[in-house]
Amino acid sequence: MDPERSSYTFGDSDLAAHRLALLAETFGPTTARFLRMHRNGTPSLVVDLGCGPGYTTELLRDILRPGRTMAIDSSRTYVELVAQRLGSSAEVLCADALALPDIIRDVDVIFARFLLTHLADPLRAIAQWLERLGSDGVFLSEEVESITTDEPTLVAYLNLQREMLRANGNELEIGPLLAQVADTRAQVISSELAILSPPTAVAARMFAMTPVWRSAESRSLSTTLPLRRRPRQPSHGVSDMLYSALTKVASKSP
Ligand SMILES: C[S@@+](CC[C@H](N)C(=O)[O-])C[C@H]1O[C@@H](n2cnc3c(N)ncnc32)[C@H](O)[C@@H]1O
Repeated sequence: MDPERSSYTFGDSDLAAHRLALLAETFGPTTARFLRMHRNGTPSLVVDLGCGPGYTTELLRDILRPGRTMAIDSSRTYVELVAQRLGSSAEVLCADALALPDIIRDVDVIFARFLLTHLADPLRAIAQWLERLGSDGVFLSEEVESITTDEPTLVAYLNLQREMLRANGNELEIGPLLAQVADTRAQVISSELAILSPPTAVAARMFAMTPVWRSAESRSLSTTLPLRRRPRQPSHGVSDMLYSALTKVASKSP
């Protein structure tokens, strides 16, 4: 892939994969409900863009039961993980979602969860993907509208995460921007807010797993990202204090 076109702020280390597993547990039920709402016959080809370790691909395979399920990610590590976990039930492809190969065409369902938030021009990306749909094809997307919390440690973390994503040209709370897709040639079938209230400890656990806190993880992240798009790292002092505050909140039950 062209490293200038996109870079994923949180990398693909073991820790990042574990964070996505916890994220999948938290968001799985909402995603499943969303997919059931949009199930329509038996699709021939369903594509999971920015599939990560493949938790979303699994849901697509099991709920939409397509003829072919394809998982695409720019991380070779994640694509290999999906291949191991899903075996021959999914085709995997390591590719940039912004430069899809020509074989991705006439797709019935293109799905992307928490990918647009990592792209510099999400509306342009959607316009590109619409070109890959068949005549009755749909694009389904799940992103963050807003995150609110009264817990000061989580507020501090979220402010830092917003800042890091912005330094990489991305927005965390991208929902309001996506509403503008209606101004493009997309015909919006539905747009819905799903409200999730994970326990504070679970949110803190997920946040603490963001792989930028610990110096070893930070070093491996820095080496995997192209120089000009490297996200701003918090200073070690801030990082250590926030990380230890987050782990304290995370250790409270449940
Ligand atoms: C937050 S993760 C979401 C993973 C998965 N969709 C989920 O919800 O569990 C974002 C994923 O998008 C991938 N990604 C980021 N930019 C990409 C691009 N331009 N092309 C393909 N994949 C990309 C990352 O490697 C990462 O796996």
